[in-house]
Amino acid sequence: MNLPSNFSGATVTHSRGLSTNPYVAMTFDDGPHPQNTPRLLDMLRARNIKATFYVIGSNVDRHPQIVRRIVAEGHEIGNHTYTHRKLTSLGDSEVRREMSRTEDAIVRAAGVKPRTMRPPYGALLQRQREMIFSEFRYPTIMWSVDPLDWKRPGPSIVKSRILSGANNGAIILAHDLHAPTVDAMPGTFDGLLSRGFKFVTVSQLLAQKGQA
Ligand code: NI
Repeated sequence: MNLPSNFSGATVTHSRGLSTNPYVAMTFDDGPHPQNTPRLLDMLRARNIKATFYVIGSNVDRHPQIVRRIVAEGHEIGNHTYTHRKLTSLGDSEVRREMSRTEDAIVRAAGVKPRTMRPPYGALLQRQREMIFSEFRYPTIMWSVDPLDWKRPGPSIVKSRILSGANNGAIILAHDLHAPTVDAMPGTFDGLLSRGFKFVTVSQLLAQKGQA
């Protein structure tokens, strides 16, 4: 959808959008993966759905062409660190390096800068969130729906957890490095569409804040 994505008034942390419109943001973490991410992109393209990918910088350097495709097809890229370590146990200079190495890799691969970040394991101190927001301008993006797909419960459980958890403004967490998660997506996307949800990127969702 051609929605505004300028969220300059955003606050430091977001777990969902505040709009009452039936928008949801699908987010896919830990890629790009050489097989599963292109397969997911085909599913998204077939439905003209936009998503947000929280990529790991080291994977970006391994598969820059997939990052280029993500951007070329209108999806959003977010920063998910370079090494996927738990940031709460790192010093400030290491946290900065995780952010900047990943940002640089994304710019090299696709010519765009990420606009938001998601911490691995959802772990980030408030002080670190504020530092990243002030130095990189990234809001920290958490989630409101977690199907626990990384525990590999099977595609039908992943789908049903997402469908039962989704509501207006939801930010939905999933992982495109797991094949069963990608297997769950056609039914998940079609189920959300049939319930009247529209898919937006995280930046589009944040730009809707307060506009209800
Ligand atoms: Ni992750």
